[in-house]
Amino acid sequence: MVANKNRIPDKWFEEILNVATEWIVVVNVQGEILYINKAYCEFLHTTVEQAIGRSVQEVIENSRMHIVTQTGQAEVASIHFIKGNEMIANRYPLYVDNELVGAVGTVMFRNAKDWLAYSEKIQPLLEELNYYKKKLEHESESKYSFQDLIGDNERFLSAKQLAERVANSKSAVLLLGESGTGKELFAHAIHQASSRCFFPLVRVNCASIPQQLLESELFGYEEGAFTGARRGGKKGKFELAHRGIIFLDEVGDMPLQMQSKLLRVVQEKELERVGGQKTIDIDVRIIAATHRNLEEMVEKGEFREDLYYRLNVIKVDIPPLRERKEDLPEIAYVLLKKLERHFHRPNLKLSNEVLQQLQKHSWPGNIRELENVLERAVNILDGQTILLSHLPLYLQDLEGGNQDIKKESKGLVMTEKDEVPSLKDVVAQAEKEAIVKALKSTNGNKQQAAKLLEIGKTSFYDKCKRYGID
Ligand SMILES: Nc1ncnc2c1ncn2[C@@H]1O[C@H](COP(=O)(O)OP(=O)(O)OP(=O)(O)O)[C@@H](O)[C@H]1O
Ligand SMILES: [Mg+2]
Repeated sequence: MVANKNRIPDKWFEEILNVATEWIVVVNVQGEILYINKAYCEFLHTTVEQAIGRSVQEVIENSRMHIVTQTGQAEVASIHFIKGNEMIANRYPLYVDNELVGAVGTVMFRNAKDWLAYSEKIQPLLEELNYYKKKLEHESESKYSFQDLIGDNERFLSAKQLAERVANSKSAVLLLGESGTGKELFAHAIHQASSRCFFPLVRVNCASIPQQLLESELFGYEEGAFTGARRGGKKGKFELAHRGIIFLDEVGDMPLQMQSKLLRVVQEKELERVGGQKTIDIDVRIIAATHRNLEEMVEKGEFREDLYYRLNVIKVDIPPLRERKEDLPEIAYVLLKKLERHFHRPNLKLSNEVLQQLQKHSWPGNIRELENVLERAVNILDGQTILLSHLPLYLQDLEGGNQDIKKESKGLVMTEKDEVPSLKDVVAQAEKEAIVKALKSTNGNKQQAAKLLEIGKTSFYDKCKRYGID
């Protein structure tokens, strides 16, 4: 009696089949119906009593159940037309004591609507999967070449030429430069110019991966190496980069303990996965990058000296933007071309004043900062020419108060090549001048200024906002 308590009562089975599968049919090896549930019969315009014992082909239009009982092969998610409905059916052979005794068929989706509702749920997942697949493929290719590295400054050119010359070497490269100077661009360009370009370029950001994950990220792990380890283990970035290049970005932020492990891999050219026994040979070239002063870190004992020498075989020093201001116009021009494509805004230009102003700034964020400034300007720009008012305030005011109307009006919106400015830009400039003038004569009283200009208060505020007037 005790054993029975843990058994599903026989009577329940039918109800379970009804609830769990909705529509189900079971046939014997001759293809005669042994079981069919009520819901299925209702759809077929028959009754359970009438259907049982009859050949499945007579009862269910286009049935293939009798074929499955012959082939013994399951047919999963096959499309089945019944009464004008496109249904999704599963058919499984039934083996009892190793003998093919019949087949069981279920209908997963009874109509296109059900199927649609389901596919709407999985569609975003499939798209997401696709996105990550593409991203992975994309990430292991280099996106930039040496041609994309803009600049004629002597120091910059010698860094670029050195990188180009050693692109095909096996030796490690250390890219040094402040944040936003183009270290990642250099790594891509080296990869693309090297014979390793047919193999992946794998980037690891040593600063952003939590310390406890870094080892398994770099070297992979075996199944069961730790709780939560994926079945079958996982390849690390070094293995993924086999025959290609690994780009160790922000290497200066790598914890000391990991530095020792990295050193071993660099020296031995082989690694062990976390929790693994066997050694795996790897053929990977290393490009490391950092904005930190590694020599100083070595002195302070924060970076292993032996690893530093291993990574610093070919040192490429990329100068900051403030030390190559002569390159700024061309870089800005190339960045604007990129923004034109990105935002579908052709013929973007910089006014002379903007260019002069950009030259005065010290650019702590380097080219990335310039890129952000230009993108912001394009976003708030109505016409095609970027004016001082489109720059962030910290750039408008480099010498303190150079928002002055007189200064602004001196070089009315002429573009870099002294082309004729667009009417829209001229109007914008005139409006801005008029507003600043009105505000001066009313000592900053906006309401009175709006009255003087004979425009509404809202429109006045809108324009102030648009032209960056406080
Ligand atoms: N010489 C260059 N010519 C044109 N664009 C450049 C150049 N150098 C960098 N850029 C652009 O500047 C941005 C920053 O470059 P990158 O990401 O390579 O800098 P980074 O040195 O790796 O910075 P971080 O240390 O902050 O990671 C990128 O969007 C890149 O396209
Ligand atoms: Mg970078």
